[in-house]
Amino acid sequence: MSKTLLSEKPGPIGIFDSGYGGLTILKHIRSLMPDYDYIYLGDNARTPYGTRSFQVVYEYTLQCVTKLFEMGSHLVILACNTASAKALRTIQQIDLPRLDATRRVLGIIRPTVESIGELTQSRHVGLLATPGTVKSLSYPLEINKLYPDIKVTGESCPIWVPLVEAGESQSDGADYFVRRHIDNLLAKDAEIDTIILGCTHYPLLLDKIRRYVPDGIRIVSQGEYVSTSLKNYLERHPEMDSRCTKGSTCRYYTTESVETFLPNASIFLNSAIDADSVTL
Ligand code: DGL
Repeated sequence: MSKTLLSEKPGPIGIFDSGYGGLTILKHIRSLMPDYDYIYLGDNARTPYGTRSFQVVYEYTLQCVTKLFEMGSHLVILACNTASAKALRTIQQIDLPRLDATRRVLGIIRPTVESIGELTQSRHVGLLATPGTVKSLSYPLEINKLYPDIKVTGESCPIWVPLVEAGESQSDGADYFVRRHIDNLLAKDAEIDTIILGCTHYPLLLDKIRRYVPDGIRIVSQGEYVSTSLKNYLERHPEMDSRCTKGSTCRYYTTESVETFLPNASIFLNSAIDADSVTL
């Protein structure tokens, strides 16, 4: 991708996901930091990313990050574990210096990982995530860098994102798949006392997940940790904070049609919104 002309003017914080999942993160971020402007981009036309190769996830993510930069963001959050696992490092190390070394792209795995040490007593942690995130081994590698004594066991849930994207998260049919993957995970390690929901779509399945996770096992969803970490980041980086505008607005963009995006996005956000369609 060639170097594009990016505006120096401050702009909204960009929040990216392969589809609707990042809206669960955006909601937490906005409630903790309501003064900032935000721009959300969901690549709904190409979701799910979780079953795609490293190269494809990287290329798609880079296109979306570049789009958010072109739309004025200086700071972009990959509110997608799959993109954080498969594309973040390359974008930070190879693409940012080329596109604009002063812009930043942050992922959501690190803030989640940092919280885990205090949450598990048994030091056995389960991870429910997309096949891409589980196969990348990003969670066990990152957790073990900070907490070498924690054992991490992953379970891929390839059907959970399609269920959520299809608006089936509350349907009776979803119970079968939710239960199956939780049972699989706990059969691999019976000492798990903490389960990370390592995909931003999964909070939409939380009622069902709670139904099938035995009492006493903590379920960690990411919004709270990611939003607190972003707030801390901006406090520690006033030079970036000054490049994020504060007008309390939020604009929504999708690579799909607006007619398809709006009804599902409203379920994620629990409120009606407006959106526009973008071409990458
Ligand atoms: N929401 C994304 C995540 O957190 C994944 C969705 C997908 O598979 O596209 O991993």
